[in-house]
Amino acid sequence: MTNENILAPFRKIRVKACLFVLLLLISTTLAFSLITLRIMNRRILNEVIKRAETLCRGTASTAGYSLISQDLLGLDNIVYRIKASSPDIVDMFIVNLEGEILVHSDTKRTGEPFRPTAGELLRKAEDGTTVSEIPGPVHGLIEVRTPITFLEKPLGSVVLAVNKAALVEARKETRDKILAVFGFLLLAGVASSVLLTSFLTKPVRELSVGVTELKDGKRRRPLRVYSQDELGRLTESFNDMTALITTQKETLSRYAQDLEEAYVSTVRVLAAVIDARDNYTLGHSTRVAQLTLELGRELGLDPAQLEDLEIACLFHDVGKIKIPDSILLKKGKLDTPEKREMMRHTEYGTEILSKARSLLKYIPAVRHHHEWYDGTGYPDGLSGNKIPLAAAIVSLADTYDAMTSDRPYRDALNNEEAQAEIAGLAGKQFDPELAVRFVVLLKRKTADPANKPGE
Ligand SMILES: [Fe+2]
Repeated sequence: MTNENILAPFRKIRVKACLFVLLLLISTTLAFSLITLRIMNRRILNEVIKRAETLCRGTASTAGYSLISQDLLGLDNIVYRIKASSPDIVDMFIVNLEGEILVHSDTKRTGEPFRPTAGELLRKAEDGTTVSEIPGPVHGLIEVRTPITFLEKPLGSVVLAVNKAALVEARKETRDKILAVFGFLLLAGVASSVLLTSFLTKPVRELSVGVTELKDGKRRRPLRVYSQDELGRLTESFNDMTALITTQKETLSRYAQDLEEAYVSTVRVLAAVIDARDNYTLGHSTRVAQLTLELGRELGLDPAQLEDLEIACLFHDVGKIKIPDSILLKKGKLDTPEKREMMRHTEYGTEILSKARSLLKYIPAVRHHHEWYDGTGYPDGLSGNKIPLAAAIVSLADTYDAMTSDRPYRDALNNEEAQAEIAGLAGKQFDPELAVRFVVLLKRKTADPANKPGE
């Protein structure tokens, strides 16, 4: 299992945790935004009303004397200045007790009768100042009305109407600022939640990777313990368990290796016993091993391949351990059933070697060393390149050693005769190219007086 597959579930946990935190943040931010907006709205409305009330009261306090002294020009000047002071003020006028508009910010309406518009009364102060909300086609108005008195005698009222559009603008501006702040907080919250979930899931993630690596036999180093909490204790327990399992695996592996070595040694002894059972084949396996090594070197095999080839040669007739003495040691020629049983030594050898994993690699040479290049050999009738190279090499060396050894039913051939026979069997029993290389090697050996194989 790759690390990618192991970590996939943790990505899902992180995504879930992030989504959860994100939802929490969004709902919290939304709730706080709404509450803050409502508070800000109320404050802005109060500010607007307060300002309008101040203007109305200020005007009313001076308007009393002006009305008594019939100084309407002075009043007109005051109303004009107040109206000009703020674009939010829609109308400002002074009305007498009879309901006639005496002074109006819009001079054309001076003298008109005052027709109060029905609205929702928001509050009424002790001095009689009222604040009403008047619905309008777009945003509506806030109307403030303050009674004018002079020496406690009522004379009329100051009326000021403020456009709520300004209030809406102020609200929008405030809302944008609040949303910008909360948007930033939201982003910071998301980033924090990603970091936090990554930090929280890191020890669990590493623990999971550790468990999988331990299962696959890859874990060697202990995991890092990040904290002394429950997770930290779990990691420590995991590290103890890993150390124990690793030690036990090493011990088991050592035992298995010892067992394999013991089995290999036993099979070597068996090969020697086979040779020893039959005086005619005494030392046969060792001689074949020597010849195959020389041919292997000639073919350019590397040291590891040569070592395998040598051991395969020692084992090549190990299956003969199952052949009864009556057949193996028979002085005369074998009859057909006996020949058939003798031929089975390749299959018996395969069975013996298949008992140990480390010996499996020698099976091709052992099973197929009696296959013929033309497909008429045994046990599987393999032909041409289908015959494993090791088996083809062993076949040449095995046959040559048999030809140059005395048998109960025939005398040994001399080197030249055996080499001629090998050459004659090229393309029939042997791979032609290998046979030529082998004969060249034998001729070179024969020419060297230090080498007298098979004699
Ligand atoms: Fe054999």
